[in-house]
Amino acid sequence: MIYNQWYIILDSKELKKHKPLKILRFNENLVIWRNVEGNISCIQDQCCHRGASLSCGKIVKGALECPFHGFLYDKTGRVTSIPANGRKTTVPDTMKVKSYEAYEDYGFIWLWYGDKEKISSKPFFFSELKDFSYSGFKDHWSVHYSRAIENQLDVVHLPFVHQTTIGRGNKTLVNGPVVIRDEKLITFYVNNVVDDGKTKPLKPDEIKNYKDFFYLQFYFPNIWQNFISNKIRATAAFVPVDEENSIIYIRYYQRLTKIPIIKHLLNYIGKVFSVIILRQDKRVVLTQLPKKTAVKMDERLIMGDKPIVEYRKYRDELMEQNKSHEQ
Ligand code: FES
Ligand SMILES: [Fe+2]
Repeated sequence: MIYNQWYIILDSKELKKHKPLKILRFNENLVIWRNVEGNISCIQDQCCHRGASLSCGKIVKGALECPFHGFLYDKTGRVTSIPANGRKTTVPDTMKVKSYEAYEDYGFIWLWYGDKEKISSKPFFFSELKDFSYSGFKDHWSVHYSRAIENQLDVVHLPFVHQTTIGRGNKTLVNGPVVIRDEKLITFYVNNVVDDGKTKPLKPDEIKNYKDFFYLQFYFPNIWQNFISNKIRATAAFVPVDEENSIIYIRYYQRLTKIPIIKHLLNYIGKVFSVIILRQDKRVVLTQLPKKTAVKMDERLIMGDKPIVEYRKYRDELMEQNKSHEQ
């Protein structure tokens, strides 16, 4: 995982009020909960007293009470009350567990994975999507999140994996792709065509009109957008669970109509279609080995894999820039 980044880790709807939720993220067991105002706290899911899982406890006035001996935790992971010692006794500073900064917007919850002093801005999402309505679903994949991401940047697989859906038309020849990076946002311009047997694919620098092409975008560390049209988008958030597991949140966004019944129907159709496409991907990606990718690994890549190469390179750069003291 890249250190010092905001990661989407949950859909807002999954975190109910009044009930702590156990989650596995960044290879750590965490507990996340809301206080009465709806604000989110997230700490390590293991009591510092005798190791019980705090997610089995309850929320008391916005704090989390351990189910075993009632120690009370605040959002910074500090114990604020030890009932057995009485209210008159001060709680020692050593009574604490690790905590995470959380943020909520766009119907998503983010966690900051890194040093809290390094938080410099709010998490990113595609702001124009505020005007869209959406439907979505999540899916668990037994691969490192880098594999799941690279699948959505893979423009070579379309006519094979998605022969019956978005890859119809036998467009096997891959021009470019052109990859433009702007800080943590990468845009991939895609132009797949039918192979006439006479033409070689165009190299990225031979393509001048790339802005007319269809494009995909990726924002580090884990957000993707498929720009289908001005009024239709698909997004994905790739959530790191552990070294061999990830969760993908797919959403279908549209602003084709404001009429409620048609809007909901379109959202439903978009979601069903997205489920079918993702299932086609999953069937193959889950067979890839190793389950995690790296800049240097035993794969023989081709020109059409440029988006994947660029992703790996920049991911490596960010890892290097943000090394944690634990790594
Ligand atoms: S184990 Fe949590 S209070 Fe004792
Ligand atoms: Fe795909």
